[in-house]
Amino acid sequence: MSIDRFKDQTARVGVIGLGYVGLPLAVEFAQAGYRVTGFDVVEEKVSGINAGRSHIKDVSSEALAEVVKAGRLIATTEFKELAELDSVNICVPTPLRKTKDPDVSYIVAAVEKIARHLHPGMLVLLESTTYPGTTNELILPMLEATGLEVGKDFFLAFSPERVDPGNSRFTTRNIPKVVGGMTPACTEHAAALYASALETVVPVSSTRVAEMVKLLENTFRSVNIGLVNELALMCDSMGIDVWEVIDAAATKPFGFMPFYPGPGLGGHCIPIDPFYLSWKARQVGFEARFIELAGQINSFMPRHVVAKVTEALNEVEKAVRGSSVLVIGVAYKNDIDDVRESPALDIINELVELGGNVSYHDPYVPDLAGEGIALRSTPLTDDTVAAADLVLITTRHDVVDYDRILERARVVLDTRNVLKGRRSPKIRRL
Ligand SMILES: NC(=O)c1ccc[n+]([C@@H]2O[C@H](COP(=O)([O-])OP(=O)(O)OC[C@H]3O[C@@H](n4cnc5c(N)ncnc54)[C@H](O)[C@@H]3O)[C@@H](O)[C@H]2O)c1
Repeated sequence: MSIDRFKDQTARVGVIGLGYVGLPLAVEFAQAGYRVTGFDVVEEKVSGINAGRSHIKDVSSEALAEVVKAGRLIATTEFKELAELDSVNICVPTPLRKTKDPDVSYIVAAVEKIARHLHPGMLVLLESTTYPGTTNELILPMLEATGLEVGKDFFLAFSPERVDPGNSRFTTRNIPKVVGGMTPACTEHAAALYASALETVVPVSSTRVAEMVKLLENTFRSVNIGLVNELALMCDSMGIDVWEVIDAAATKPFGFMPFYPGPGLGGHCIPIDPFYLSWKARQVGFEARFIELAGQINSFMPRHVVAKVTEALNEVEKAVRGSSVLVIGVAYKNDIDDVRESPALDIINELVELGGNVSYHDPYVPDLAGEGIALRSTPLTDDTVAAADLVLITTRHDVVDYDRILERARVVLDTRNVLKGRRSPKIRRL
């Protein structure tokens, strides 16, 4: 295939895995003028997309329906379509096993399907976050087993996805796209595809560099959050307001970047990705100490929150057992509906185990059945707030009226500093 087909959008492109990463990318390619085929293994997602219904909050159903109606995006569970495509982006999950080792089985499953339909001129791109070496050590041998040669017969590259769900300022289109190919021709093909649909492409020298870029970014966040979480624990013991400390430090115009403490890490990236790196580091005899330490501190935070709840109830002569606790916000971060790895879930489970009567409100998460917790979001009314012995704020959602909650509540434990600047004897902070 001529690279020019990525320049004039006559190429046929595909995306495997239509979740938080894959669906926005597929829609972006379609809006750029490509004919896009999206692949997923979940029939309901595929039929929803083909009916113009988006299951991803950052992709509006209107935008999706428009490209579907125009025939520029079609979703399918039939992977034989791969034979017709000039390129395919792999956007499948990369979770951890219980042992905290990488689970690359979704990547392997997707590449097995691509290998069956690999043909001369095809461009294969991996976007899933993974350890350095995945593209050349795992994927390349599977594709070259077909007899086709990389850089000559087909092209292979890694490009980390950096999407930030819920962020309307930085989206798939305007977040710079780092891309590293197996060979210079691979990088060139991949860069041509992205440049035709996205604003900025940043080519790097290899797939391993591109893989490491993503892990540096997420490890940077995990370690810095670990540092402020440790500072929060320290300040708590010293009776110092950590939020005030950070805000004042952030006035330094150089050499400081604010990170904020919280009830723990969540989502599919920050709690997981650093362990991909430490696992790979162990393979070469290297112990990634910062990563492990930050992981320990961050994963302790939900327990610290439960201890703070216990302490706050104790002050009003109550035990957790039999007390009612209303949790506000179960998504792992503000203004989104994603509960994967959310610390609120651990906190709820722990409070229930201690005998608490726990309810929750989250405007974006109607129930927690998928997480094995038999709770539905309770309406946020003056009465539900007033009835709780303690209101625990675990996520900041802009649509929630926190002042009203403070007015009605008996005690509020604010783990996100949403009540910044408010002074009230009812408030307890992280
Ligand atoms: N969510 C984020 O904010 C984010 C940001 C940057 C990078 N990432 C990375 O991107 C990758 C995808 O994450 P996500 O959040 O989009 O996950 P997701 O679970 O939202 O989406 C993955 C999709 O892949 C589908 N799938 C699973 N196996 C498949 C297979 N064999 N063939 C086809 N489809 C398959 C699933 O049904 C699902 O729809 C992960 O590696 C993640 O670490 C995620």
